[in-house]
Amino acid sequence: MARLVLCVLALLACGLADPVHKVQQKIADHEFLQHQVEVLNLFYHIHEPIHEPELQHWDQWDLIQNIEKYTNETAVKLYSELVKADLILPRGVPFSILEPTHLLEAKLLYNVLYSAKDFTTFYKTAVFVRNKVNEGLFVYVLSVVLLHHPGTQGIVIPPIYDIFPSYFHNAHVLTTAQRINTHGKQWIEHYPSTYVWDENVVIRWNDTVWPYFTDDYTLTYFTHDVNLNAYYYNHNLLYPYWLGGQETPLIKDRRGEFWWFLHKQIITRYYLERLSNGFGEIPVLDFNVVKQGYVPQISYHNGIPFPVRPNHFHLDQPEFVEAIEKIVDYEHRVREAIDRGYVVNHVGEHINIHTPEAIDILGRLIEGGVDSPNPKYYKDFISIWKALLGNTLWHKQRYHNDLVALVVPSVLEHYQTALRDPAFYSIWKRVLGLFTAWQKTLPSYDVHQLTVPSVTIKSVEVDKLVTFFENVYLNVTNHLHLNEHESKAVADDVTVLVQRPQLNHKVFTVRVNVTSEVAKTVLVKFFLAPKYDSNGEEIPLHLNTENFYLLDIFPYDLPVGNVVIKRESTDNWLTIRNWTPGYEVYEKAYNALHGKGQFVLDRTHRLNGFPDHLLLPKGRVGGFPFVLLVHISEFRPSKIPQGSNYDPIVSYGLGSGARWLSDEPFGYPVDRPLYQWQADLVPNLHIEDVHIFHKHVPEVVVPQVV
Ligand SMILES: *[C@@H]1O[C@H](CO)[C@@H](O)[C@H](O)[C@H]1NC(C)=O
Ligand SMILES: *[C@@H]1O[C@H](CO)[C@@H](O)[C@H](O)[C@H]1NC(C)=O
Ligand SMILES: *[C@@H]1O[C@H](CO)[C@@H](O)[C@H](O)[C@H]1NC(C)=O
Ligand SMILES: *[C@@H]1O[C@H](CO)[C@@H](O)[C@H](O)[C@H]1NC(C)=O
Repeated sequence: MARLVLCVLALLACGLADPVHKVQQKIADHEFLQHQVEVLNLFYHIHEPIHEPELQHWDQWDLIQNIEKYTNETAVKLYSELVKADLILPRGVPFSILEPTHLLEAKLLYNVLYSAKDFTTFYKTAVFVRNKVNEGLFVYVLSVVLLHHPGTQGIVIPPIYDIFPSYFHNAHVLTTAQRINTHGKQWIEHYPSTYVWDENVVIRWNDTVWPYFTDDYTLTYFTHDVNLNAYYYNHNLLYPYWLGGQETPLIKDRRGEFWWFLHKQIITRYYLERLSNGFGEIPVLDFNVVKQGYVPQISYHNGIPFPVRPNHFHLDQPEFVEAIEKIVDYEHRVREAIDRGYVVNHVGEHINIHTPEAIDILGRLIEGGVDSPNPKYYKDFISIWKALLGNTLWHKQRYHNDLVALVVPSVLEHYQTALRDPAFYSIWKRVLGLFTAWQKTLPSYDVHQLTVPSVTIKSVEVDKLVTFFENVYLNVTNHLHLNEHESKAVADDVTVLVQRPQLNHKVFTVRVNVTSEVAKTVLVKFFLAPKYDSNGEEIPLHLNTENFYLLDIFPYDLPVGNVVIKRESTDNWLTIRNWTPGYEVYEKAYNALHGKGQFVLDRTHRLNGFPDHLLLPKGRVGGFPFVLLVHISEFRPSKIPQGSNYDPIVSYGLGSGARWLSDEPFGYPVDRPLYQWQADLVPNLHIEDVHIFHKHVPEVVVPQVV
């Protein structure tokens, strides 16, 4: 059956990661729907064996007997030996992609699944391993394969917080959910903060349900936000540090540069939130004491709590000596490369990093992944920082069958929880310092480079910017055990939702009044930065460039003369409203497969969209001052036009080299120090003072209690 293509209004798709394509949607065909439903079955109640009766006999799939169905026979042979010898990570224990023995298994399984010659083989293999391999490893590897395999493009992966609620909700809430799971709706009046809503039981997430910790938790609405954490996890599915090289040319996507930019965005965004709440600068990390501790409040599904870092955590402990020596060494190697202006590759050749494009090399170098110019010499010190500050180093190594490490990683060592711990931002502030040191070795942009002749911004007007809290409801049912009846029916009798407040903002419009002497296509960018630091001192522009957060980016056709560019916050292509809950995706795909309704593929499923509700920092009740920088540059499309060699509606085009709108450096023109006198001379650059107001609304809007 041919895939139907539905054209909607010719909205111009743009932004950093979206192709300039006019076709916005596709209706999934029968074959796609079949695959979509089958894949979602694999994620259902992941902690338990597979439920679908017709899938259970695929448990008997024999890899070796079917070896001709895979292109990578080496991987299949090695993997089946690993399974036979029981050298795979057992189910139920924590998995960490940063642990070498776990990584080895993950890469092998990736190669097996990826090399399946057709979908049926892929699926049978996935079902076969579903009950055997560790569920954390399974979900991670399966997701990476689905995103990278040409045959599975467009298949929607449920949001990680639907698959593994235990990484996102505290242990008290989830224990209450288990009680509800057993008792149904009876006795809920005995549980804290619980009520019935329609057919569901809702647990109010509430600071007070975790009364054992008294530290200031003001910023958790940001650091614990499930969508923010999922966003970071998703990026690491798209660009795993271990995936790349010749076979998977992710290097074409400027992965090193984007890796830097993504982190810069997250750290600057967090800084804006700190300032809004009257907190000081992000603490500087050194080798003495980490003042702020962290109690994760979450537990692994098997009941083991995440490691805790106490307040005033001393790093001069005998257990840490080795780790700290490594960090010092590896960081030093990077600093040396920056000062010398070159990197040494594995055969001793020098690679010049004294050019603006070398940001990509520097990024890959510091990440220390497979695409680093020399991962044996420039090693990943960020992961050592994470183990150190996550307080996992004291943990005595235990092994499964003497070989597979059993670990209890901290929140910092999982992508889906790393952003919860304030130490993440301190580590990254330190890492960004290395990038800034490199940026300072480049000449600053001269005024001619920044100027688009004939284009002048006359004024910028911004609506009143208002933030507020609203409640969201997250389905944690996949975390719960199925009873006999549910397991037979492959359906849940009880649905448990967790109600949490999240930051959001009112829709706003930015109007840029521009004159141009010629008609041309330009690229417009909005950045947000603080006006004052935590001491109330105005930050000079050339120092503030580090703090500019890219809010929006879009191409625009300027006519001759005067025009007002009107941009709504809802047009933003860097952000996404919400990922469709896993269960809803399943329902829609299942219904469409059985002739009820359609399953539409479009950008709402985009894993790499930043959560729109966090676009603006909270601000303050009386208004908090920020600056909005608007820059208009010549639109220089990428050398390989965006979206040209893949189908941008279904695919991310990973490794295509055609993912980005423009060849401009990410973060241009505030990717290098910019001086006020320069800004004053550039007519197509405008800095406007803005205030963000926070509005109190009753944070707990209780729906009709039945
Ligand atoms: C096949 O799998 C092996 C083992 O994982 C791996 O080393 C090799 O690179 C893979 N080959 C290809 C072509 O992907
Ligand atoms: C949190 O729970 C406590 C005790 O159950 C209750 O008194 C309080 O009103 C709740 N607060 C919110 C914001 O729901
Ligand atoms: C834009 O700016 C010009 C020059 O300052 C002014 O004449 C014009 O009225 C402005 N347009 C709008 C719509 O504000
Ligand atoms: C919550 O998720 C479970 C398991 O996926 C599903 O059975 C249930 O219908 C969902 N409930 C709601 C309200 O989405």
